[in-house]
Amino acid sequence: MSKKKIGILTSGGDCPGLNAIIRAVVKYANLRQWEIYGIPRGTDGFIDVVKGKLQVEDLRLQPHGYDVPGVLQGLDVLQFMSGSVLGSLSRGNPAEESVTQDILEGYKRFGLDALIAIGGDGSLDIIYDLAKKGGWNLVVIPKTIDNDVAFTERSVGFDTARNTVTQALYDLTFTAASHERIMVVQVMGRDAGHLALHAGIAGGADCILIPELTPKLTDATIEGICQYITKLRRDRRKFALVVIAEGVHGLDNKKDAYIAETLADLIKDYSHRLSNGNNQELDTIDTRATVLGHLQRCGVPSSFDRILATVFGIKALDLIEQECYNRLVVWQNGSVESKSLEQIMPMIKWCHQENTCPAPVDPEGFMVRTALSLGIYLGESHYHPHTINLVDTE
Ligand code: F6P
Repeated sequence: MSKKKIGILTSGGDCPGLNAIIRAVVKYANLRQWEIYGIPRGTDGFIDVVKGKLQVEDLRLQPHGYDVPGVLQGLDVLQFMSGSVLGSLSRGNPAEESVTQDILEGYKRFGLDALIAIGGDGSLDIIYDLAKKGGWNLVVIPKTIDNDVAFTERSVGFDTARNTVTQALYDLTFTAASHERIMVVQVMGRDAGHLALHAGIAGGADCILIPELTPKLTDATIEGICQYITKLRRDRRKFALVVIAEGVHGLDNKKDAYIAETLADLIKDYSHRLSNGNNQELDTIDTRATVLGHLQRCGVPSSFDRILATVFGIKALDLIEQECYNRLVVWQNGSVESKSLEQIMPMIKWCHQENTCPAPVDPEGFMVRTALSLGIYLGESHYHPHTINLVDTE
């Protein structure tokens, strides 16, 4: 087995589990006496080497490189930490040719046999092009809390974020109940609704709006939510949790960074206007918005994410050992596999050009059916039995 020199970098938005991948790769490589080099701040690390800000020999990752002193001596804490110890970069495409040339030159200076890039779709697109230009031997590991990397059922980071959002919904339930309020909770996911849908189901949401089913708010959506809430209130449940994915656009079909605030105001205004002082349930509707924001990318990685990260890291090295390059490591049917980048990149690139999510929620899939079967309101696209005539008196 020939000795190998491998680079590893994290690219795009961070998420829990990145360090667990790095740890697994370094540990496994150490058993084989392979050398792993950590490239700081995504592909910018290559530029820093060219500019003389970093020296290649200083970037070798050692197992137990993050030991805790004292009684915990020897403890390998890396897999418990979120973020990325290498730093990450989400700057977009290195459009300038000189930047690309520096990255390619920096890569050469390492003398690497292969590069493991940990990233989402955006990074995959950019790094794939760089690898083609530079003749790199690339293996990509998917990560994102959005879970929208195509061809893999799971990306590292999604499970932890799902737990974080689920916990937030649980926590909000009690303040919502105490004040008989409607809590509107904005969940990340860029263009995909997986995080909102999964956590909404697990966290007991009453309404879940995701871009795959509700691309934009409409008057009918607001009315549907108000009807649903009123029905709950007549059934003596005075509070409600409304989850909205950040990818849902406003009434004007524009992206709204504070879509939860917008929706909270719309629900309140609509119900009060409709009642005009004549309907007690509608008049007392009070709303609050919560944007969970980057807390969704934090926290101790869940055991599933740590396992996924570790399995993916080991698989990446196995592929490199077999000299099976230019692959995306994927999770399919409960097992680890890999896909040829050559075959999958045309579809992924097309999605980027068309601004389309490469792995959206399936509107006919079992998760949507599960939510509907619980009676969760998913917007106008699906018939809902809880619709009532709002102008009825109680
Ligand atoms: O893609 C991961 C993600 O967290 C999205 O859910 C979110 O829209 C975006 O990144 C936020 O990016 P930034 O950290 O650049 O604000």
